[in-house]
Amino acid sequence: MNIQSKNVIVSFDKGDMQFFEVKTANSTALITNYGAHVLSFKDAQNHEVLWVSEESYFEKGKPIRGGIPVCWPYFGASIVANEPAHGYARIIDWEVEEVCDLANGEVKLVFSLRGSKLPVNYQMLSATMEIIVGKTLKMKLTSYNNSTKELKLTQALHSYFNVSDIANIKVTGLENTTYFNSLDGSEYLQNSEITINEEVDRVYLNTDKTCTLVDSAKTYKLEIAKSGSLSTVVWNPWIAKAQRMVDFGDEEYHNMICIETTNAKSDARILMANSNTVIALEISTK
Ligand code: BG6
Repeated sequence: MNIQSKNVIVSFDKGDMQFFEVKTANSTALITNYGAHVLSFKDAQNHEVLWVSEESYFEKGKPIRGGIPVCWPYFGASIVANEPAHGYARIIDWEVEEVCDLANGEVKLVFSLRGSKLPVNYQMLSATMEIIVGKTLKMKLTSYNNSTKELKLTQALHSYFNVSDIANIKVTGLENTTYFNSLDGSEYLQNSEITINEEVDRVYLNTDKTCTLVDSAKTYKLEIAKSGSLSTVVWNPWIAKAQRMVDFGDEEYHNMICIETTNAKSDARILMANSNTVIALEISTK
C-alpha cells in the first residue's frame, strides 16, 4: 500500500473493513476499499451529499446499502443462476494502489481489482478505480479485457443521494428522454422534470446529460456530470419494496434517491480483445 497523504486517516472497523477518511480544504469524504466504495462526501459547507441506510450491512460478502456502490461486471441480475445482483465488485476488497495529495489540494485514491479475485468466468477482466476528492467528487472506473475474445460489460456507479424528503425533490436533465421502465418492461418518454410519488425504477436511454437534483428544503443543488455513459438509472423503492429489503429501513425511501451513472440496457459496452473502457462521474454542489 502506497499512502503518501497528509490528508488521509486510515482506520479499520466494522468487521475488518478498511476506511479512508479524507479531508481537503473544500470537502471531506469517507471511502473504503471494500467495493472501492465512497460512503460520504461533504462539501466545504459540510453538506452531506450521499445517503447510507441505518440498516446497511457492513459485512464482508454483503453489499453496503448506500453511498456509491460499484456494480460490475454486470448491472442488475446476472444471466447466470445464483450469481449476486449487480456483480462482484461491491462485495470484494480492492487492492489499494495509491493514496496521495495532488498539487492543487485534491486527494487521489486508486484501487484495483484483479481478475484472480473474481469467479473463473470473469477472470479475464480487471478494473481500476480512481477517486479524486476536492471541491467536487470525481470517480473514474476503467475496465480491462485481458483476453483475446470480445466481452460484454454492463456497470454502474450506483449513487445514493441524501434528500430532505422525496416529496421535495425534482431531477432535471432527463426531459425529452426515453426510459425503460423496469417495473413493467415498457418504454416511455419523460416529458418534464422528474418528481417521485411512487416506486420508480427506470433506465433513461441514450443520454449523456448532466442531472441536477433540486431539493426545495436545501440551499444548494447537486450536479451529477458523467462521461462514458449513455444511460442513467433513477431508482426509489417506495413503500412495499422498502419493506421487503432487509438492509433498508421501512421509512428510508423518504430520504434517498438513486441517480446512477450506468452502462445498462442498449448502452452495454462491447470490450474488444485487450482493450479497456472508462466510465466516470463528477458530483458537485452549486
Ligand atoms: C437499482 C435497480 O439500480 O438497484 C433496482 O434498478 C434495484 O432494480 C436497486 O432494486 C438495488 O439493488 P440491490 O441489489 O442493491 O438491492
